Amino acid sequence: MDDVTTTQVAFPMPRTCPLDPPSGYAELAADSPITRVTLPTGKSAWLIMGHTYLREILMDPRVSVNRIDPGYPHLVSLTPEALAMMSKVNDSLVGLDPPQHTVHRRMLMNEFTVNRFRALRPRIEEIVNGCIDAMLAGDRPVDLVAALSLPVPSLVISELLGVRAEDHELFQQCTLTAFNRKALLEDRIGAGVNLLMYCDKLVTEKEEQPDDDMLGRLVVKYREAGLYDHSHLVGLAMLLLMAGHETTANMISLGTLALLEHPDQLALLKTDPSVTPKAVEELLRYLSIVDISGGSRVALEDIEIGGVTIRRGEGLIALLSGANRDPSLFDQPDVMNLERGARQHVAFGYGIHQCIGQNLARLELEVVFGTLFRRIPELRLAVPAQELPLKDDASIYGVLEMPVTW
Ligand code: HEM
Repeated sequence: MDDVTTTQVAFPMPRTCPLDPPSGYAELAADSPITRVTLPTGKSAWLIMGHTYLREILMDPRVSVNRIDPGYPHLVSLTPEALAMMSKVNDSLVGLDPPQHTVHRRMLMNEFTVNRFRALRPRIEEIVNGCIDAMLAGDRPVDLVAALSLPVPSLVISELLGVRAEDHELFQQCTLTAFNRKALLEDRIGAGVNLLMYCDKLVTEKEEQPDDDMLGRLVVKYREAGLYDHSHLVGLAMLLLMAGHETTANMISLGTLALLEHPDQLALLKTDPSVTPKAVEELLRYLSIVDISGGSRVALEDIEIGGVTIRRGEGLIALLSGANRDPSLFDQPDVMNLERGARQHVAFGYGIHQCIGQNLARLELEVVFGTLFRRIPELRLAVPAQELPLKDDASIYGVLEMPVTW
């Protein structure tokens, strides 16, 4: 089949509103659901819009997630340090295709069940309350990103991985710097290297004494399956840390922003806390923070889809916000409606790589939004929303700083 799309547009497109995807996406989708785009690296890739094609391509066994493949549609040219870090996590789940992916995903499934996380809820509540206590005790305005959004996922993941109490401070410091987009690049890289060294040490400790925590149990499970590999477990620990941190942190900040910017919806949440689980789904859909990287793939064979042929070796991006704002699936998709019940959204991706941590993320977000507005009902932005510095480099969308007061 011949390629029917001849347009070649620069991608990603700029945002005009902090809470919406770039307005150019809707025009592109109306023109053609599959378009050739030029990435900031100068390479070309296919952009896939709409729910139907997104599902089709992300379920296709002829696409790969291998981030080291030269055709993978990275949005930035990788520095040697970034490439080294990526190679480490690429070998653990997120960069694996079947059959290896299937084997390793199966090893993890039991660790990510709703029941497992239900038991963690009181501890998450304690963590969130601790952060809010500190906010209330300090001066105003407070940067919500530093006070709540970054520490919550970092403290939760250290609990989950089984970081020892005496190492909490070191671990917390390293994660906060490594994931703080405002920190100097060399400091962030340094903190990332320290985290990698720390994960190595932690895995060694769990090898000697496998405690009843996620890493300890995984050491036992991998050994029993005859698949044990120290380096793989270190990569996995890093992956869980990286995949769960910036995502959840950005959802906390942007979700709070979206609620503050929609007072009628926030009032609904305040008067009826039972809306919170539905509200979390709608915020995930509406904000689609892992818009691009969550659907980036490379074609392993020629693939015909939507009237075009994606050639073997070409990169493609199934846009998550494109599907999450598809009017054929969501009525008035640009409206944030906390009562929508948007369970069909693809904010956690689609297909075999769909987010394994989604139950944990949902729980953290439910606890945060439920607690924050109950304990600080007068919470408001301390600067106009348009002045908030956005993190719009198209990997994980977020806000760098968010001064709030009450
Ligand atoms: C709101 C928070 C989160 C969002 C929006 C999110 C989003 C995503 C998306 C879109 C994917 C699919 C990537 C792809 O198909 O290429 C993914 C995969 C993944 N996520 Fe999340 N995530 C979140 C939180 C978490 C948490 C808390 C963890 C773990 C602690 C986690 C661990 C992972 C892992 C390990 C994968 C790879 C799964 C695989 O390749 O089989 N995520 N996430």
